[in-house]
Amino acid sequence: MAVGILLVGGMGTRLMPLTKHTPKPMLTVAGLPVTEHQLAMARKAGITTVVLATSYLSELFTPYFGDGSKWGMKLLYAVEDSALGTAGAIANAAQLLGTDDSIVVLNGDVLSSHDLSEQIRQHESNRADVTIHVTSVEDARAYGCVSIDSLGQVIAFLEKMERPISNTINAGCYIFDPAIIKAIPGHRVVSVERETFPELIDSGRKIRAFLDDSYWLDIGTPKALLQGSRDLVTGIADASALKLADILRHDQHSLVMASASLDSSAIIDCGSCIGSGASIGAGAHVSASIIEAGAIIGRGATILDSYIASGARIDENAKISAQFVTDTEFLSIPT
Ligand code: GTP
Repeated sequence: MAVGILLVGGMGTRLMPLTKHTPKPMLTVAGLPVTEHQLAMARKAGITTVVLATSYLSELFTPYFGDGSKWGMKLLYAVEDSALGTAGAIANAAQLLGTDDSIVVLNGDVLSSHDLSEQIRQHESNRADVTIHVTSVEDARAYGCVSIDSLGQVIAFLEKMERPISNTINAGCYIFDPAIIKAIPGHRVVSVERETFPELIDSGRKIRAFLDDSYWLDIGTPKALLQGSRDLVTGIADASALKLADILRHDQHSLVMASASLDSSAIIDCGSCIGSGASIGAGAHVSASIIEAGAIIGRGATILDSYIASGARIDENAKISAQFVTDTEFLSIPT
């Protein structure tokens, strides 16, 4: 049975200021941390043991996820004192697994509905060294580009570039033969995208592409994070991490988590989600936004395209648009 490593140690600079006090994978989309949606996806593919490879704000993961038993999983934590880069993190985390099973590595900032079970099956039946999930995008400039031959072998792997060689990109989910991970240099910063993959291709290793164009989104920017949450709420993305017991109300337009208090005259729409224990006053309108657990929205307030963090309090009749709001700050979200 395959085991997993979730890369959740990056600083999330593109999501600043949202990531100033919360690591990107712990930000809420559709009422739950991004990581929780990913664990549900891994669980669905039969993966029950996962190492969270943490570094930046590492102390915020364990209180929420614990030993994983709440999700029927075994969760372990690999903490990097200073960030080791994506490949360094994989090598470090794999030491906790000590296994000969295939190792599934997930970037911690992706929402994907691709068929992970099939990716693992193909990896094992092809006896590949690595199998990379690739997907097609219209504009590949912000991503790692992958070139594939007619047999599905990856022949080039090029990180973000102005003139991409193809619109097929690295989707951030890899299956590794554990022997490949053992060969990654330990105790120094190594990038899987910039060093490990290009080196493996150059040395003729069997690096396969698994092309699956199901729903996929990199939630690495504020705009994309809000989009991802809306997609989960409206059913465009797979929201099977949500448990009925945690939900007060869920339809195509909105999600309200249990124990939120909502005045009957408030309007929640366009894929907004209201976190548990949040309070929405009379006549308030929340549209295309994320309201985190415990936030308070005053009566008559309008919230559009915004992320209202736990502990924030929005005044009566306030008009908030494209803002990130915490208990102390109001910041514009770049468009
Ligand atoms: P940006 O700074 O906005 O690019 O975000 P990021 O820091 O998350 O970097 P990037 O999006 O390239 O990282 C892809 C995934 O790898 C994310 O899930 C990161 O959390 C994770 N990651 C990146 N660098 C490290 C690292 O040094 N250690 C660990 N454990 N994870 C990392």
